[in-house]
Amino acid sequence: MTQFDYIKDIARFGLENDQEKLKDSLQEMIEHARKSKKTNLAIQLQSILKEAIRHHSSGSLKTSSGIRFETPSSKEVDQLILDQVTSDYRLSDLICTPQIKESLDHFILEHRKKNLLQALDLPIAHKILFYGPSGCGKTLASYVIAGELEKILLVVNLGAIVSSKLGETSKNLAKIFKKAAAGDYILFLDEFDSLGKVRDYSQDHGEMKRVVNTILQLFDYLPQSTIVIAATNQVGMLDDALIRRFDTQIGFELPAQHEIEELIQLTLKRGVFTLGSKSGIKRLIQKAKGLSFYSIQKTLIAAMKRSLYKLETDLVPSKVEIDKAIWEKLIEEEKTAISNSGKV
Ligand SMILES: Nc1ncnc2c1ncn2[C@@H]1O[C@H](COP(=O)(O)OP(=O)(O)OP(=O)(O)O)[C@@H](O)[C@H]1O
Ligand SMILES: [Mg+2]
Repeated sequence: MTQFDYIKDIARFGLENDQEKLKDSLQEMIEHARKSKKTNLAIQLQSILKEAIRHHSSGSLKTSSGIRFETPSSKEVDQLILDQVTSDYRLSDLICTPQIKESLDHFILEHRKKNLLQALDLPIAHKILFYGPSGCGKTLASYVIAGELEKILLVVNLGAIVSSKLGETSKNLAKIFKKAAAGDYILFLDEFDSLGKVRDYSQDHGEMKRVVNTILQLFDYLPQSTIVIAATNQVGMLDDALIRRFDTQIGFELPAQHEIEELIQLTLKRGVFTLGSKSGIKRLIQKAKGLSFYSIQKTLIAAMKRSLYKLETDLVPSKVEIDKAIWEKLIEEEKTAISNSGKV
């Protein structure tokens, strides 16, 4: 059978309200997607199926009007979640120090070997904290973990949750953790420092303590197979008790010279773009020092595009030499923009 045959079956059984056959076809399509290396599709379908089965077992899948895959409460949780994503990123996509790579390797391995660890009653490291300046790989590293473990990442912006309805923060956090624990998800709590900022929003200083206590309890309640990743660029805002709860803590930094070289190689990889003669490249790298991976990559990509436009052709060229003077100007502009915004 081809993918189209499965889709036709699923459409037919869905419209006929034949849930058993619908689920069988979906399961077959998942197997088919796996075999044909459509891993993302397989993971996403598996997650839809799992969620439906879970709701079904709690009696909420089938309604008089037919099939309903979402209960009101799951909708409510989904509003708190920024995104649910699968990822194709691998460790090779992240440029980092050997120490960071080793920590990530170990963390990923814990989850590949989780059955073995569980069988031997050994604890599984499942809470990881990423800190460091903006644009240096915290979000990317989360995508790498999700990609390597082929799990769905539930992205939650803690800043939005804490600031929108302060009084409901604890309740909303509990809902999110419950969803993460029930499925095979990775929970990604971005802007984790927002927890430390509660005291700025609140007249009631007790509120911050309550929210931090809730998080501490939720961390303890989370099954070891559920991964939680927290990211912050203001680690100083965090309560010590909170930092201690993480099994692994990784500090990202601005790129060193050889990491900038790697970033250039990674960005130009397999492309038609080159930096031409070596002369001047070292000086440009020196100029780029102090900028984040993100800013350097952004200016390089902009320079690639501008060098392309200069060729004044709509035909796809086989080779484009990046104009180093353009890149240098963009690097300088980026530095000025950042220092004006007070970030550097
Ligand atoms: N260490 C890195 N290796 C390779 N590319 C990187 C790295 N860090 C950043 N990048 C590039 O910059 C982009 C943005 O980085 P990322 O979103 O991971 O930053 P961040 O640390 O989460 O920043 P913020 O604190 O602003 O959320 C990445 O998608 C990637 O293209
Ligand atoms: Mg980020």
